[in-house]
Amino acid sequence: MNIIRNIEEFRKEREKTNKKVGFVPTMGALHEGHLSLIKKAKEENDFVIVSIFVNPAQFLKNEDFSKYPKKEAADIEICRLAGVDILFLPDADKIYQKDEPKVVAPNIRGFVLEGFHRPGHFDGVLTVVLKLLNLAKANNAYFGKKDAQQLILITQMVKNFFIDTNIIPCDTVREKSGLALSSRNVYLSQDDKIKALSLSKSLYKAVSMIQAGDLNSKNIIKEMEKILCEVEVDYVAITDRELNDIEKIELKNTVILVAAKVGTTRLIDNMWI
Ligand code: PAJ
Repeated sequence: MNIIRNIEEFRKEREKTNKKVGFVPTMGALHEGHLSLIKKAKEENDFVIVSIFVNPAQFLKNEDFSKYPKKEAADIEICRLAGVDILFLPDADKIYQKDEPKVVAPNIRGFVLEGFHRPGHFDGVLTVVLKLLNLAKANNAYFGKKDAQQLILITQMVKNFFIDTNIIPCDTVREKSGLALSSRNVYLSQDDKIKALSLSKSLYKAVSMIQAGDLNSKNIIKEMEKILCEVEVDYVAITDRELNDIEKIELKNTVILVAAKVGTTRLIDNMWI
């Protein structure tokens, strides 16, 4: 595995391959969720690039940028064992220069849900993802459904900006308990971890109501909120795949999303129906 920190060196190495390239952008502290994206990229491509870059532009002022978990040595080992070809670890001052143009998230889809609670977050995500996609020039790039709104906005950006990379959605990996894996789970105390289960439990409740034939969003949200009573809910929403609220579940076109603070940690989870 080639570990590259320098952007120019990365571009040179990238030019040397004419194989089918799969790309997995991450912020590191890799877990089984990230690994599932890397494995899918390995299966579907002949050359795999992973990037680790904790992107300052997507953290709001009061958020956890400076204490975001860093596990570089373990991450390198995970990528090596997974058969990654290039691990790209750029420095922030090389990715960003002063007074740059930036991508602004779309007005509606970019500023509801996560975008409402974290204004500016998706401008930072889209800007860095555009930079990384331009550097990687991959055939396929892999993103988790766990970050549903991020995935939807990146898919839209790639379409609107005519970028020649396919965006491949990947299923959410969970602990046996149901808790969606996240780099931020390390912040949870034992007690928080139990409370955090209410997010996935509320989503499983929604799925079972839908399976039993109740397609009414209001009913479902009401039942979910009962399960979420011990955490500080930011939102529970039922939307179509373009993030418009919907009154009735549309099979194959619905996302049920939840965000909540558990202790001091903010978690998100969702189900694609
Ligand atoms: P990060 O949170 O490190 O996640 C990297 C990728 O892993 C994202 O596509 C995310 O959706 C996916 N992922 C995280 N947890 C997952 C899980 N439990 N199951 C499946 N996939 C999971 O998302 C980011 O980084 C950044 O915003 C980034 C896109 C790299 C831009 O900075």
